[in-house]
Amino acid sequence: MWDRLITDCHVATMVAAPDNPLGLFPNAAIGIDGGKIVRVGKRTELAGFRAKEVVPCGGAWITPGLVDCHTHLVFGGTRANEHAMRRAGATYEEIAKAGGGIASTVAATKAASADALQQQARRRLHALMAGGVTTVEIKSGYGLDTASEMRLLNAARAIGRGEPVRIVTTLLAAHALPPEAREGLAREAYVRMIVEEMIPAVAKAGIATSVDAFCESIAFTPAEVERVFTAARANGLPVRLHAEQLSNQKGAELAARYKALSADHLEHLDAAGAKAMAAAGTVAVLLPGAFYALNEKKKPPVQLLRDAGVPIAIASDCNPGTSPVLNPQLIINMACTLFGLTPEEAIAGMTVNAARALGLAHEVGTIEAGKAADLCVWRVNELNELGYWVGMPGPERRIFAGEG
Ligand code: NIG
Ligand code: FE
Repeated sequence: MWDRLITDCHVATMVAAPDNPLGLFPNAAIGIDGGKIVRVGKRTELAGFRAKEVVPCGGAWITPGLVDCHTHLVFGGTRANEHAMRRAGATYEEIAKAGGGIASTVAATKAASADALQQQARRRLHALMAGGVTTVEIKSGYGLDTASEMRLLNAARAIGRGEPVRIVTTLLAAHALPPEAREGLAREAYVRMIVEEMIPAVAKAGIATSVDAFCESIAFTPAEVERVFTAARANGLPVRLHAEQLSNQKGAELAARYKALSADHLEHLDAAGAKAMAAAGTVAVLLPGAFYALNEKKKPPVQLLRDAGVPIAIASDCNPGTSPVLNPQLIINMACTLFGLTPEEAIAGMTVNAARALGLAHEVGTIEAGKAADLCVWRVNELNELGYWVGMPGPERRIFAGEG
């Protein structure tokens, strides 16, 4: 006897077949036991199975729970002032160089008490969850010293405790240079601290499952990123990279050389980068919220990614500076409207491919026997509506590990 039988629904399993990219299964049912999916099939096929609870869905559509694979959710303060400065003509780079940007969030994060930090982050987490997110990645990167980065990773893990959500944490110490370490020797000392102190400490404490970096003219050079990646590898942690967001630094190729789980942003990606990513199995994570908020003009080369065969994920990039977005439905819509993804690609981007970007494809992202029973029940007539509405409400029901 199963725990639950979800029935009277249409299912997008997200297990792609050539003629059925979303793995659509009309008039289906899903068996759940012990928090996992045990069977997906035609409603009539599953009618003979018994469950402690039958959940009829009235003809709704069901997708895997959404996976937000790139966020910076834990931070102090906001940067509403910079939003205003940009409206007056300042660019993101100019604000960063003048000591604003990430550095100002680092200061506000330091000033926030542990309680305040977690309370604010939990509110943002709840907003994403209301939008159907069942797995969320959270990066550090607003600490920039060993204790502060670890504080952020621990806070990110703490806000998930007791909540029906899976949290994955990423060390992003190479996000920005601390203000006192912008040049020369101090700069070198900061990179050395990441390599010799932060990555080993975080790996030992087991509080992050990957290491990320920001490869950009206003952040870290490819050579510095390479040192960070080498240390990550030596400590058994896979890598990811903020690559080609504002300029082409050949970050995607660098990421691919280290078999990165993902390279993210990619507005300035070129053909060689796309080819290298495809060969390495590195997922492209596109972040339309940052593109929109920075009012960027250069779009990521989606056709190049398709032609090269790079899996495309999308994410909120929720952060105070470049993407103050807490609505996954809006991200799905923006990925379609701004970047030209098809609704099918956008839905795959927040489910199956996002799971891949986190190295969690064996656990979440599709509706298949053996995966976590994380599901979203959508009251829509057709699934395309997920890309169509501009910020539609979240799912009618959100099931996490079989419950809810
Ligand atoms: O993903 N690009 C670098 N990191 C963030 C921005 C963080 C910030 O400005 O606070 C991003 O866009
Ligand atoms: Fe980011």
